[in-house]
Amino acid sequence: MALRMMLDRLEMAERLDRIGDPLQRGVQAVLRGRIRDALHGVWLGHPLHPALVQLPVGAWLSAAVVDAVPGGNGPATVLTGIGTAGALPAAVAGLNDWASLSREQRRIGLVHASANLIAVGLYTGSLMARLTGNHRLGRRLAYAGLTTASVGAYLGGHLSYRQAAAVNQAETFLRQIPEGWQDVCAQEALADGQPLSARIGDVPVLVTRTDGAVTAMIGHCGHQTGPLAEGELVNVDGADCLVCPWHGSTFRLADGVVVHGPAATDQPLLRTREIGGRIQVALP
Ligand code: FES
Repeated sequence: MALRMMLDRLEMAERLDRIGDPLQRGVQAVLRGRIRDALHGVWLGHPLHPALVQLPVGAWLSAAVVDAVPGGNGPATVLTGIGTAGALPAAVAGLNDWASLSREQRRIGLVHASANLIAVGLYTGSLMARLTGNHRLGRRLAYAGLTTASVGAYLGGHLSYRQAAAVNQAETFLRQIPEGWQDVCAQEALADGQPLSARIGDVPVLVTRTDGAVTAMIGHCGHQTGPLAEGELVNVDGADCLVCPWHGSTFRLADGVVVHGPAATDQPLLRTREIGGRIQVALP
């Protein structure tokens, strides 16, 4: 209970914004364009940060096991070095994702990153100590690093599982759509190149006609539920795309594929048909 209250307080801690806000602006100024998309995991169709984290976590945990058995100094030194080097790309990808989160998420993310930064410092000290032959100090610093990294991992879990950062927000809306064809609007109501916002129950659906072809996608952006109906239609590499008004995620209309992040997953598309002067949609 005390832990939950502490996390609630952290989410509301406006003082963290004094560090978080300028850091966010700095990250967004430095990480741009294709590098930004690559770090979000747009090419992977999945956030990159959780995948990159496996290397440092795996190497550091393995070092802790090897350290616990006699004669493991050499392998433990190698594993500590691998884990510490692997933490850098994981941290850069995480920072890139963090800069597009909501304010409350960024506060927890800042503490998560700080804990991991301390862990990297402790592991760097451990590596230096091992390389100079002081394996006893190396082991102690490594165990302190693992403890700190575990605190960071806990906060990362809170960020993902309670605050729903970096999860595909559109997926839950898809599950609320009943089976079968659903009527959304009249054919004549849909003008070419002018997205129309419709609803199936509580689920917003964005219907678009471009060059005669009708497409329909979940109307809340998969990144942070931004209203896609307020987005802008653009052409990217010859394909009609929709840009989310909140953080600029860009989705191809024809298949929902994410073209630019911060969203890393495709936007769910629905099947469409025109029948009896009406446009209907159905689950894919
Ligand atoms: S809500 Fe963030 S890009 Fe759409």
